[in-house]
Amino acid sequence: MTSTTLAALATEVLTCAEGRGKAELSRRHAAAWLASREAGQPLPLGTAAPPDMPARPERPALLDPRDVPRRRPGTEAGRKAILHAVAHIELNAIDLHWDVVARFTDTPMPLGFYDDWVRAADDESRHFMLMCDCLEEMGLAYGDLAAHAGMWRAASDTAHDLPARLAVVPMVLEARGLDVTPGMIELFSKAGAVSAVAALQTIYAEEVSHVAYGAKWFNWLCGRDGLDPKEAFHDLVRRYFPGGPKPPFNEEKRAEAGMPPDFYWPLVERA
Ligand SMILES: [Fe+2]
Ligand SMILES: [Fe+2]
Repeated sequence: MTSTTLAALATEVLTCAEGRGKAELSRRHAAAWLASREAGQPLPLGTAAPPDMPARPERPALLDPRDVPRRRPGTEAGRKAILHAVAHIELNAIDLHWDVVARFTDTPMPLGFYDDWVRAADDESRHFMLMCDCLEEMGLAYGDLAAHAGMWRAASDTAHDLPARLAVVPMVLEARGLDVTPGMIELFSKAGAVSAVAALQTIYAEEVSHVAYGAKWFNWLCGRDGLDPKEAFHDLVRRYFPGGPKPPFNEEKRAEAGMPPDFYWPLVERA
């Protein structure tokens, strides 16, 4: 085996700017780590200095969410905008998972922690490419529309705190994906968009495991530190994601991912 480390592989993905290039590199590096684990000779974890912000392509233009044009979801332009937004989320998610791998090597974790986030990064890489394929089918490429800036905000805010990162990214943001994806599938299904429906169904089925990885390792860290996971989760979300999660919740899928209702309902802001 070469002398590379997992942290170095993660940083290579984070510093790769081009979308499909990043996704392909991510898939190759995920395969290398998992093969080394299977062979019983895991690559060393190493340490790295991941960038504050991952490298990104020149396009799309990143705008303040308030400035991203809103299009009616029932129109073709609306559906293109949704797929473009999902592609943008998936590209961010590739970086989010590799960032967890590279950034927190000072916190001793079982190797299974790395397996989970490498697998999640591999899933996101496929999700991004699926979304690119759907966009291309509609005559569009990732980058052709504006996208939200500030999606890295949750990562920057929690760059010094692994439990906070797990609480905010997989357990709040990715759990939100479970809430909203069924509505998207219905929308594309009504429009007869066969490949978009298939791609979104794959994403929906696979995202449960990312929320579950978050819940699993958050609970693990709380158990190691003698903290009550529910209380710790409430504290961290109130501190780092003050808007809180928003209903309606997909209680069934959240339960499947190990998120009981008393984790998220008490965080809902009362109007
Ligand atoms: Fe995804
Ligand atoms: Fe995900």
